[in-house]
Amino acid sequence: MLQPAVLTVAAAALVAAQAPSYAPIRVDCPSDPLLGRLGDPTQNNQTLPPNEQTYMDKRRNDVLPDLWRSYLEDSSTGSTGYSASDIVNSQPNLGIAVSGGGLRASLYGAGTLSAFDNRNSSSAGGLLQLASYLAGLSGGSWTVTSLALNDLEPIYALVTGENSSRAGGWLLDRDILAPSGLLGFGDNSAYYQALEEDVRAKAAAGFPISITDLWGRALAYHFLNETTEENFYSTDAAHDQGTLFSSIRYAPTFQSGSMPYPILATTSRIDESQQLTNDSTSVIPLENTAFEITPYTFGSFEATLAAYIPIEYLGTQLSNGQPTNSCVNYFDNAGFMMGSSASLFNAVQEGFVGATFSSLLSNLLQAVTDLDPPEGSVALVANYPNPFQSYQPFTGYSFESSGNEILQVTDGGEDGQNLPLMPLLAKARAVDVIFAVDGSADTEFNYANGTSLVATAQKVELYSHNFTRFPDIPHNQQEFVDQGLASRPTFFGCNVSDANMANYSNYPIIVYHPNSAEATPAGSTNYSTFKLSYPDEEVITFLNSANEYAKRGYPDPATPNQPDEQWPLCLKCAIVDRARQRANISRTDACQSCLDRYCWSPEIADQLVNATQTAQNNSAAASPSSSPDDSSGAVPALAFPLGGLVGAAAAALVGGLALYV
Ligand SMILES: *[C@@H]1O[C@H](CO)[C@@H](O)[C@H](O)[C@H]1NC(C)=O
Ligand SMILES: *[C@@H]1O[C@H](CO)[C@@H](O)[C@H](O)[C@H]1NC(C)=O
Ligand SMILES: *[C@@H]1O[C@H](CO)[C@@H](O)[C@H](O)[C@H]1NC(C)=O
Ligand SMILES: *[C@@H]1O[C@H](CO)[C@@H](O)[C@H](O)[C@H]1NC(C)=O
Ligand SMILES: *[C@@H]1O[C@H](CO)[C@@H](O)[C@H](O)[C@H]1NC(C)=O
Ligand SMILES: *[C@@H]1O[C@H](CO)[C@@H](O)[C@H](O)[C@H]1NC(C)=O
Ligand SMILES: *[C@@H]1O[C@H](CO)[C@@H](O)[C@H](O)[C@H]1NC(C)=O
Ligand SMILES: *[C@@H]1O[C@H](CO)[C@@H](O)[C@H](O)[C@H]1NC(C)=O
Ligand SMILES: *[C@@H]1O[C@H](CO)[C@@H](O)[C@H](O)[C@H]1NC(C)=O
Ligand SMILES: *[C@@H]1O[C@H](CO)[C@@H](O)[C@H](O)[C@H]1NC(C)=O
Ligand SMILES: *[C@@H]1O[C@H](CO)[C@@H](O)[C@H](O)[C@H]1NC(C)=O
Ligand SMILES: *[C@@H]1O[C@H](CO)[C@@H](O)[C@H](O)[C@H]1NC(C)=O
Repeated sequence: MLQPAVLTVAAAALVAAQAPSYAPIRVDCPSDPLLGRLGDPTQNNQTLPPNEQTYMDKRRNDVLPDLWRSYLEDSSTGSTGYSASDIVNSQPNLGIAVSGGGLRASLYGAGTLSAFDNRNSSSAGGLLQLASYLAGLSGGSWTVTSLALNDLEPIYALVTGENSSRAGGWLLDRDILAPSGLLGFGDNSAYYQALEEDVRAKAAAGFPISITDLWGRALAYHFLNETTEENFYSTDAAHDQGTLFSSIRYAPTFQSGSMPYPILATTSRIDESQQLTNDSTSVIPLENTAFEITPYTFGSFEATLAAYIPIEYLGTQLSNGQPTNSCVNYFDNAGFMMGSSASLFNAVQEGFVGATFSSLLSNLLQAVTDLDPPEGSVALVANYPNPFQSYQPFTGYSFESSGNEILQVTDGGEDGQNLPLMPLLAKARAVDVIFAVDGSADTEFNYANGTSLVATAQKVELYSHNFTRFPDIPHNQQEFVDQGLASRPTFFGCNVSDANMANYSNYPIIVYHPNSAEATPAGSTNYSTFKLSYPDEEVITFLNSANEYAKRGYPDPATPNQPDEQWPLCLKCAIVDRARQRANISRTDACQSCLDRYCWSPEIADQLVNATQTAQNNSAAASPSSSPDDSSGAVPALAFPLGGLVGAAAAALVGGLALYV
């Protein structure tokens, strides 16, 4: 049993590349206020946190202008006909969002982003380097964190380990929760003891713990970089137990302003009464505040909070902004942050998953109980001492968890929004266009069908319309599918009357890029969210499929095997369209004809339904044997079954069973 590490350090926050252990430490509090306000979104006067503003200023001054100019002038991706200088001066502002959905979503995100890496000569343009922001949620948060903490290593090298300093890359051939396989009890048990030792140190230092701590430690073995094939089971080797999310600031690409600003998304619940019931459409109600984790902050731009705590002080309990005790550093462990964004254990409820899973859950709970959690720990969610206790946001709004001592942080997708769009809709960020990489398992076969966009549209309409907007999209998933929009990339919200994106009445263009059966080789990208290990061949095939789809666009239905040669240009036209409008330039014919093909509006819905039916009839005629219509009865009766998250929780519990029984 370790001694409580109640070490008090006088000084400002420790921003270090590494903490000495997994346990946070107590430090003296700074004299300046700890909470930052983000401005009143309903008054259209939001501000960025000062550190993010400084970072973005550097990135916009030193890095982005040259990159945008070369992108616009690169004739290999097509010519828009716009003056590059005019567009560059109007500062195009791109965000990328990578969805949740377990390892499938991590790989779908990685393969897609690899197609937009300017170091890859065959790419459709360097959107990865051009993006101002890169947001990830759950499985997508693992990709984003891995890229950021590995200094934007080229993606194939990062994931596979080939041409990388780290042999094995993400080491996905080892199951995240049972790396020695379900029968290899001995090694699994040593592995678990190592994870438990770290979490025990956190509990011994007086911090609440839960299943999420063990989960986050396991994720760190794969997505951070200290664990290799050789040292996997070594208890002498470091396994990123001290790696902090805030240490992204030390990555050379961050220091030079060359990294898209990384953001992870989470939700939170008030207490266990907020759960999946037979009547609810999601675990967490859409009205709850969605949080974001960045290299500088933890907080939310939503009107229900509009505040943040500097991430180096995360873990500090505050009441109405004032510390109730000493302050805390090193709570922002990078594995724990990834685990928080993917903390879905509360989604597993007895009535929903049945008695078998409930009994598995009790085994895992027992393991956490054995670690002596401090009183008040909540086992099924990520536990954060609440920095926003008794906090009052602006007039007319209140923060739903202001009465909690522990903020109960949950998987980013548990409100149905499985794409991290809310952070990119914050008006202070003035994002022009969001490239939405959707690897959710909405359908029976683990493909996306627009569910997460429908959820965000509802969130904005019901709870956020006073401070942001979302473009028109189809009303529901059935319309997405019927119009063929779950089968190919589509642009939503192309036309606005005014392109000042800081104005709360305006919305960005959403480039929707759903994982789809029609756009990828059969079976290569639709593995179950249950699957927590991938052999090397499956990893490569998956990356290649996602990479090729991202470069192919939407082929002419008459020649479905030919990539759309115009796609790189059409994408470029959409990515710079708001900047074009701010520069008072008219669309060129080349761009207008592109946008006519890829932009959606309600007026063309019927036409799309007809075209989709015609295409389906043609392909059914061509291959009469394939009929996808035998899915009756298998789809759960839920509007938002979490993009497969419940499945991932179940898999986690199966993995846990092998270790604990
Ligand atoms: C935003 O506007 C409100 C009302 O006008 C004002 O009280 C507040 O100080 C402003 N906040 C900022 C950050 O400018
Ligand atoms: C891990 O990544 C960090 C940040 O880029 C780097 O400083 C460190 O050298 C890397 N470690 C290994 C073992 O590759
Ligand atoms: C570029 O993409 C190809 C797949 O088309 C991949 O094989 C290669 O490794 C990628 N290169 C880098 C540097 O990521
Ligand atoms: C590794 O580098 C070699 C030589 O540059 C290249 O041919 C190969 O595609 C790279 N492999 C990966 C996975 O990036
Ligand atoms: C949900 O419905 C199932 C099947 O009808 C039932 O067995 C279960 O008890 C219900 N759960 C709740 C929480 O109402
Ligand atoms: C789309 O996904 C949702 C969520 O999984 C599911 O309930 C619905 O049946 C699906 N609809 C279609 C048309 O695929
Ligand atoms: C993947 O999709 C194919 C159809 O494209 C389907 O036959 C297969 O069952 C799916 N696999 C999984 C694991 O859902
Ligand atoms: C939006 O603002 C109006 C007027 O200030 C207010 O009445 C309404 O409650 C607000 N709506 C939401 C969802 O906050
Ligand atoms: C905000 O946008 C709306 C709709 O485009 C426009 O009517 C309004 O004038 C704009 N307000 C400002 C302050 O630009
Ligand atoms: C575009 O036109 C508007 C209205 O005429 C004007 O206010 C703005 O300065 C112009 N922008 C540029 C970049 O010329
Ligand atoms: C956008 O505006 C252009 C030019 O006015 C028009 O041709 C096009 O149909 C509009 N597109 C959508 C999707 O509304
Ligand atoms: C769609 O097809 C229906 C039935 O064939 C037809 O009546 C309708 O006019 C078509 N709509 C469009 C927009 O093409």
